[in-house]
Amino acid sequence: MNPIMKTHPIAVIPGDGIGQEVIPPTLALLEACGARFGIGFEWKHFDWSADYYFRHGRMMPEDALDRLRPHDAILLGAVGHTDLPDNVTLNGLLLPIRRGFDQYANVRPAVLFDGVDSPLAGRRGGDIDMVVVRENTEGEYAQIGGFVYHQQPEEVAVQTSVFTRRGCERVIRHAFELARRRNGRKRVASISKANAQGYSMVLWDRTFAAVAAEFPDIATESLLVDAAAMNFVRRPHTFDVVVASNLFGDILSDLSAMVCGSIGLAASANLDPSRRHPSMFEPVHGTAPDIFGKGIANPLAAFFSASMMLDHLGYNEAALALERSISAVLSARQARTADLGGSSTTSQVSAAVVSELSSKP
Ligand SMILES: NC(=O)c1ccc[n+]([C@@H]2O[C@H](COP(=O)([O-])OP(=O)(O)OC[C@H]3O[C@@H](n4cnc5c(N)ncnc54)[C@H](O)[C@@H]3O)[C@@H](O)[C@H]2O)c1
Repeated sequence: MNPIMKTHPIAVIPGDGIGQEVIPPTLALLEACGARFGIGFEWKHFDWSADYYFRHGRMMPEDALDRLRPHDAILLGAVGHTDLPDNVTLNGLLLPIRRGFDQYANVRPAVLFDGVDSPLAGRRGGDIDMVVVRENTEGEYAQIGGFVYHQQPEEVAVQTSVFTRRGCERVIRHAFELARRRNGRKRVASISKANAQGYSMVLWDRTFAAVAAEFPDIATESLLVDAAAMNFVRRPHTFDVVVASNLFGDILSDLSAMVCGSIGLAASANLDPSRRHPSMFEPVHGTAPDIFGKGIANPLAAFFSASMMLDHLGYNEAALALERSISAVLSARQARTADLGGSSTTSQVSAAVVSELSSKP
């Protein structure tokens, strides 16, 4: 136990489904970690979710961003409900927070841990260690468009992507800076589709080349998104940092998560690198209605997201200790949930990680 040096106000939004099952053990783990490293947390819980929508007709109150603003970070579970269209939950909660707080870098590490089986033959722990940096505020998810002849047989939908030089440049720069400090491999791959999208992706490619020129110590490659999908399977070990637009990054990061064993391990950070606004940390997975209520959700994606939060708050040592405890539990192949081929419950896996963290000097 160390005396608490600083206390951080953290906004907690468990959301729906297994979000409500993985967030409580995440807070308990952070408490244990905080006690060891002298970090205090002041949790402020928000019940914004699909249930909130059923009661109030909206996912979160009108002044939600003002209520979140004073916090040092936001910890989110997942949102979504079988009785609610997914665009309502996405546009009613996730996107307004990501955009309103200019969390333009969505950082999604994908690591194949020792003790975890990849669906790819012949890959062992340590073979895959990449991070997808996804543009998070514009691009294909800009929500600009509309319907003509709405819900009639002649219906027409128009959906416009928005790519700005500023938007491309800042996320690409973030990827290069991450590659510089990450693990010495110093590689950035850019995901494009300039052969078919002759405006947006041409701007993306030109911006990538301009930023790359500022980082002569970083090796680069540019891949069409279809080739990238193939190479995430064929040669995942060659990737270090991968930077992509909103849509391409969304799809590729699920693929990178799966080649590393399970979506139940995939963590993410929605960062405002300028630190003007709170950043948000959340597991990549959704509400998993098929397993909700059974107590068998893998909490490790949320735990990894918590370690990213610690790192963002400046506690690199604590973040590393947390990651090592999780990877020790994975490596021991004892406490593991069904998605990883085990039969442990969420509570058993959580207890194993806390015990591992507490047992190390
Ligand atoms: N960030 C978010 O809040 C977010 C992200 C993705 C999906 N969603 C929402 O979640 C709902 C369900 O979406 P989906 O089924 O496409 O994706 P999902 O991630 O919820 O589930 C996909 C599959 O992975 C399994 N799975 C996911 N997380 C797991 C975990 N921690 N442990 C064990 N197994 C796990 C599920 O059981 C399911 O079989 C939808 O309403 C969707 O909109 C929300």
